[in-house]
Amino acid sequence: MNRHQGVTMLTALNSLNVSSTVRDRYSGAALERESQLCCPVNYDSRFLSAIPQEVLERDYGCGDPSKYVAPGDVVLDLGSGGGKICFIAAQVVGPTGRVIGVDCNDEMLALARRSQSFVANAIGFDNIQFCKGRIQDLKLDLDHLDNLLKEAAVASSSDWLRITEIVDQLRQTSPLIANDSVDVVVSNCVLNLVNPDDRRNLFQELFRVVKPGGRAVISDIVASHDVPASMQGNADLWSGCISGAWRENRFLAAFEEAGFGGLEILERSTTPWQIVEGIQFRSMTVRAHKILINDSGSQDHSNPAEIVYRGPWKSVQDDLGNTFVRGEYSSVSKSIADVLQRPPYASEVICVSGQSPDLNDQGCCGPAGCC
Ligand SMILES: C[S@@+](CC[C@H](N)C(=O)[O-])C[C@H]1O[C@@H](n2cnc3c(N)ncnc32)[C@H](O)[C@@H]1O
Repeated sequence: MNRHQGVTMLTALNSLNVSSTVRDRYSGAALERESQLCCPVNYDSRFLSAIPQEVLERDYGCGDPSKYVAPGDVVLDLGSGGGKICFIAAQVVGPTGRVIGVDCNDEMLALARRSQSFVANAIGFDNIQFCKGRIQDLKLDLDHLDNLLKEAAVASSSDWLRITEIVDQLRQTSPLIANDSVDVVVSNCVLNLVNPDDRRNLFQELFRVVKPGGRAVISDIVASHDVPASMQGNADLWSGCISGAWRENRFLAAFEEAGFGGLEILERSTTPWQIVEGIQFRSMTVRAHKILINDSGSQDHSNPAEIVYRGPWKSVQDDLGNTFVRGEYSSVSKSIADVLQRPPYASEVICVSGQSPDLNDQGCCGPAGCC
């Protein structure tokens, strides 16, 4: 977003309290199905029979990121709503995995929490936890804070300052979601609801909580063009997942700016979900990787490995700016070779033996390597 677009968006948003607009809309939608918020999604029917009907009918997702979790994963679902994605993911990750749903809406949390024992009985284990938190501030455990506030009288600015100190301390001493603790962060139609002022924090939080080598798989509504200022102040359009939608390329850029790499558009609906003022709004699912590069080794060419890019493109560039030409040997450091042997790159490259005898001991083609 350039400075001019940022200023216009803020001006329009000044008259709209994004948090309370979103809270009011989803409090109502937790109690009663709101069909305007429903974007058709085909979930894997094998997982649906274990989920209560009231959760299935209050489905406000736009994609299915649970397709991209694996057995044993620790999964974090941002904006878990009635819990549907958590209940599906719980079955995919199985009893050796774990699922954490985070939402800041009391009514949505109540719906998810009262459905949890139904799902546990149906699948035979309980590996889910629903937590109260804001996804742009995943250190702050709002359930914990609710308990503290029951005891704390706030009658003056001094009381309020004391509370803010306690809140800061809570973030440090008992973060809701710890650094590097999650294999995969998923989210289904939520990020667009976050206030633009909080979006940099939001993506930083996503990056913070994912384990090195882990990933984010996010389904959200994106826009074919920047959403104009005239639509920004409309509460219905904002809480209805329209006005806060990123333009497609800006959505991808937000992952990159936070430090993610290896971005992939996994799904992008051809038919728009809605067209408002000529702008197409559609569902997109993006996967982004927290790529583990050993910084001390990334510039270390003393133990180079050699790789060949398979194609089909004539050449490609990675997120660090390295170019690989189809069919040609490229010398890379040991740390880059380690990265290239993991998803999403492993299927794109072939590790080849080079001239250096060191390669068999240290390079990617050694005994534990990929050849
Ligand atoms: C469109 S619904 C999607 C719910 C769910 N992911 C699904 O697939 O049905 C948006 C959800 O995100 C929650 N939400 C919105 N902004 C949030 C925020 N900043 N932090 C935590 N939850 C948020 C809302 O309370 C609501 O439950």
